[in-house]
Formats: sequence, structure tokens, C-alpha cells
Amino acid sequence: MVKINNISLINFRNFENKEILFDKKINIFFGDNGSGKTNILESISLLSKGRGIRNSNLSNLIKQNKENFFIKTSLEINNDSYNVEVYSKKIDNKIKKITNVNDDHSRESLNFLNSSLSNLIFLPEMERLFHSSPTYRRNFIDRLIFSENNEYNKIINKYKKNLLERTKILQQNEIDSNWINRIEIELSQIGLQIYKLRNLKINSLNSLISNLNKTNNYPFDINLNLKDEFYEPDLTPEKYNSLLYNSRDYDKKFGGSKIGPHKSDFFVNINNEYDASQLSTGQQKTVVLMVILAQCHNLVNLKEIKPVLLFDEICSHLDTHNRKILLDMINNFDIQFFLTGTERTLFSFISTNVQFYNITN
Ligand SMILES: Nc1ncnc2c1ncn2[C@@H]1O[C@H](COP(=O)(O)OP(=O)(O)OP(=O)(O)O)[C@@H](O)[C@H]1O
Ligand SMILES: [Mg+2]
Repeated sequence: MVKINNISLINFRNFENKEILFDKKINIFFGDNGSGKTNILESISLLSKGRGIRNSNLSNLIKQNKENFFIKTSLEINNDSYNVEVYSKKIDNKIKKITNVNDDHSRESLNFLNSSLSNLIFLPEMERLFHSSPTYRRNFIDRLIFSENNEYNKIINKYKKNLLERTKILQQNEIDSNWINRIEIELSQIGLQIYKLRNLKINSLNSLISNLNKTNNYPFDINLNLKDEFYEPDLTPEKYNSLLYNSRDYDKKFGGSKIGPHKSDFFVNINNEYDASQLSTGQQKTVVLMVILAQCHNLVNLKEIKPVLLFDEICSHLDTHNRKILLDMINNFDIQFFLTGTERTLFSFISTNVQFYNITN
């Protein structure tokens, strides 16, 4: 169980010096537009691997006209306390993110922290998930996989690196065939691994959602599907590799790579009748929340991972169905919530112990 006790922000985004003590269950940040609510969620997300919920450039996290940002926090992991510091540091003119656990920067400490922390995120732009780009939808699924497998982003990064490398080789006049063969072998192995992990995730979400629907009165039956012209379930690394080989001319001409998991999309079928893109904004939010609820079940009940929930502007378009999903999460899981909204009154339907914070700039 992870509990974040407090956070202190120094020269982080719009905050020069801000300290907040958190409740172990529900924390709600309210305040005007631009007061810094999303920035606070972002700072919590930065305790985990990566560049946070906005995937922002590190330089943008530093308060304007300041040198570096510091995030300090005390956490409880399985009832032991840890001090975690995340800050920026310029090394060889490049800004790096440094994480210390109890003043220790060793790989073991970071691995321990990364394997203990898991986030489930809702961002306002997810209300339009089914009207946005395939990249955004892929990232949505990838984040869910990452919430239970903190090695997953390494796999994705390795895939992207090899993809770029192959593109570079193809653009050269003399193609080094040993080099490209090696890259393509690796690409087909990692690519297939990504396809498999995404498929597993989609199938497990579908069965969890269908189980949830048996006992709850959620408004839709939803079924997630991978959309990819190239992938088939019996695809082998050898076949993948030969298809990569065959697409060299095409890829040389048009750049990038015609096939692979970087081209995948997914779609959601509603009540076996129509596509989720036909839903209203608020209804799309319902679908997204149902998926997040299912993943929360998966983490807490099947994987023994207790995620931290970061839900930004969660109360817009919150009809009774969406309220019920949020309340079900609050009532069923002993995990910590961080929610934001412009008005305190938007949250009056939550009766459990709640800590409110009025964020002012
Ligand atoms: N590096 C930075 N230095 C100083 N200020 C920054 C920096 N980055 C962002 N800001 C400012 O932080 C402010 C708060 O941003 P944030 O997105 O957290 O607001 P918010 O409370 O979530 O607002 P909304 O309700 O509109 O979502 C913005 O006015 C933004 O311009
Ligand atoms: Mg915001």
C-alpha cells in the first residue's frame, strides 16, 4: 500500500514554495482556472518514472526565471516511511530528472520506488478519447499496461529506438545489410511482444468489464478491440521479420515503417451495436471511467498493486452514471485519490472523509 503523506514544491511550475499535507483517502483541489491544480497532480505523477501526466519537457516544469525545481515528499510503502526527492539538474547542458529515495540514488532504490508506485490517470482530454488520434488512444492503453508493468516503457522505448535506426539505415545510399538485418530481427521480436501485451490487456479489460456489468448497473456493454491491418494472432517473429524485409523499398520511399505496433489503434464497440465515437462527450467519459475502474480492479484485486488515482477535472459531465463509477471506486478500494475541479460544491456528492484544498495562485 502506498500513501503519500505530503508534498512540497519549490520552483515547480507556478509554485515558488508550496507545501500540502495529504489525507490518506480523498484529496480534492479546487480553485480558479490557472491556480495550479493540474500542476499539483503533475508533481505527484513525477514521483513515478517518466515525465509525468503531461509528458512535458523538463525545462517547462521549472518555474520561470528559476534554475531548478524540487519536489519533496514523504511516502509510506507497506507501512515504512520513505523520503523521496525529485528535482531537475543540468548535466552537460541537458536538464535531467533526478530521483532520490532516502538520499539514495542507487538503481535498487529507484527500482523499489518504481515497482511500488502506480498511477491511474484521468485527464479532461480523455473525454474525447474516441475523437482523438490513434496515437492518443494507443498511449491510453499503454499507460494502463505501464500501471501494472513498470518495465513496459523500456520495451516501447527500445522499439522506437530500433524503428528510428532502421529508418536512418534505409535513407543511406549504401545499405549495411548486416546492420539492418540485426535491427529487423530485434524489431520483430519487440514488436510482437508489444502486440501481445496490448492484446492481453484488451482481453483482460473486456472480461473484467463484462464481470463488473453483471453486478452493477452500468449504462453500456463495452468491448475493446485492437485495430491493426498487419497483426494477426498467429503472427510469428519470422513472418514479421520477412514482412519487414519486404517493406524496405516502400519504407525507404515513404519514411518510417508501414507495419508494426506504432500503427495500431483500438476501437470500442458499445452494446454490440455501434462505435464509441458515436457517443456524446459525457458518454465517452463513462466508457473511459469504466475502463479505469476495470483496471483498478485488476491492479488491486488481482495484482496486489494499490494505485494512486490522479483525476483531473473529474466533475465535468458527471451525470449519475459517472458519479456512480467514481463512488464505486471510492467505496471499493482502499487507495488514495487526488481529484481536481473548479468548485468545491461539484464534489458535494462524495460523503466519505474528504480533505479539500483551495488552491490560489
Ligand atoms: N514553468 C512555469 N513557470 C511559471 N508558471 C507556469 C509554468 N508552467 C505553467 N505555469 C502556470 O501555471 C498556472 C497553473 O496551471 P495549471 O494547469 O495547474 O492550472 P489549473 O488550476 O489546472 O487550471 P484549469 O482549471 O484551467 O485547468 C498557469 O497559469 C500556467 O501558466
Ligand atoms: Mg487544470
